[in-house]
Amino acid sequence: MGLLDGKVAIITGGAKGMGEFHSRKLAEEGAKVVIGDLDAENGERVAKEIGGDQAVFAELDVTDPDSWERVVQEAKEAFGTIDILVNNAGLAGAITGLLDIEEDLYKKIIDINQNGIFYGMRAVLPTMIEKNEGSIINISSLAGLRHDITVNPAYTASKFAIRGLTKQAAYEFADKNIRVNAVLPGAILTPMAEATLTKEQIDDVSQNLLPMQRFAQPEEVSEVIVFLASDKASYVSGSDYVVDGARATINK
Ligand SMILES: NC(=O)c1ccc[n+]([C@@H]2O[C@H](COP(=O)([O-])OP(=O)(O)OC[C@H]3O[C@@H](n4cnc5c(N)ncnc54)[C@H](O)[C@@H]3O)[C@@H](O)[C@H]2O)c1
Repeated sequence: MGLLDGKVAIITGGAKGMGEFHSRKLAEEGAKVVIGDLDAENGERVAKEIGGDQAVFAELDVTDPDSWERVVQEAKEAFGTIDILVNNAGLAGAITGLLDIEEDLYKKIIDINQNGIFYGMRAVLPTMIEKNEGSIINISSLAGLRHDITVNPAYTASKFAIRGLTKQAAYEFADKNIRVNAVLPGAILTPMAEATLTKEQIDDVSQNLLPMQRFAQPEEVSEVIVFLASDKASYVSGSDYVVDGARATINK
């Protein structure tokens, strides 16, 4: 018996990075998963590896409301309903200061990270309202809790905004039995981080910035998502789940 047996989940950005781990973990716990991503090649691969009757790939641009409507339709055609939405797709962009960030990049990051979550919730909520049930998990960041030297202002602004949108939706739809929570990951050792940082850099950050002296594995974030998506979290809504190995306790 899985914690998510009988449930249907859409995971945005589910084709690679942390989203791939979330897609696999939710499926392992029994959910049918719809992997929504721009990246068709990796999305198809992950869906195939999970297994044809339990996962499908749906091409999604989270910044495009029409694309969301199509994915909601595809999810219903494939698996009948939608119980869970994991708004995970995101863009970080290079580290810059407030005066250095290109305006186009600023707008793009806000469009994907912040507006994308609004469009996603708006597209999926009518189905959840109709069934009087649902769990939405919006992926913010430790950079949505306090200033973080490893990101840029658009990323910070978008990740703070996600927490606000989460609380708005949690309040508005609480009486419809729809729970909405934010997850705030800290330093996660995604395949991309492993590919871009040297072993020495990873050790240096671990020792100097991270109280647990290590990055998290992506699965350690997926476990929290499974909990929030499941009926075990039946009274958890409007919360910020920080998954940062106590990093926010220090000012680094
Ligand atoms: N990696 C970390 O350490 C870390 C820490 C805190 C928060 N986060 C957040 O976790 C989430 C996943 O991060 P990651 O490191 O796995 O990212 P990633 O870059 O590895 O993967 C992001 C995925 O989102 C998809 N995507 C990008 N734009 C899209 C769009 N417009 N429509 C649909 N899909 C789109 C990409 O194709 C990709 O598959 C992001 O929201 C990120 O901000 C990451």
